[in-house]
Amino acid sequence: MIKLANVTDVPEGRGIVVPAPHGQEIALFKIKGQIYALNNSCPHMGGPLGEGEIEGCVVTCPWHGWQFDVKDGSCVNMPGEEAEHIPIIIKNGEIFLNQDEVNA
Ligand code: FES
Repeated sequence: MIKLANVTDVPEGRGIVVPAPHGQEIALFKIKGQIYALNNSCPHMGGPLGEGEIEGCVVTCPWHGWQFDVKDGSCVNMPGEEAEHIPIIIKNGEIFLNQDEVNA
């Protein structure tokens, strides 16, 4: 399993960006103690979602303001658009990429 970070590395209410295989970057968020992961690259033009402002469970892309629900990647203000939701596993306070789902 590929470790992405420790749960304690992710601050409440703000994203962090971690590297993943194949040059990908993953944005991790902690909302009310729960960890969520999206592809850091915004589906609009690649803005860094992990650097966006968070309100509730919605992150706003810092480039042009598209907003995504961090729980499933669905776009709140551009219906039909979607950030890539990244499957993760939390084990003993560590966050891992769920490769079974990634490769499924
Ligand atoms: S790149 Fe994210 S809204 Fe444009």
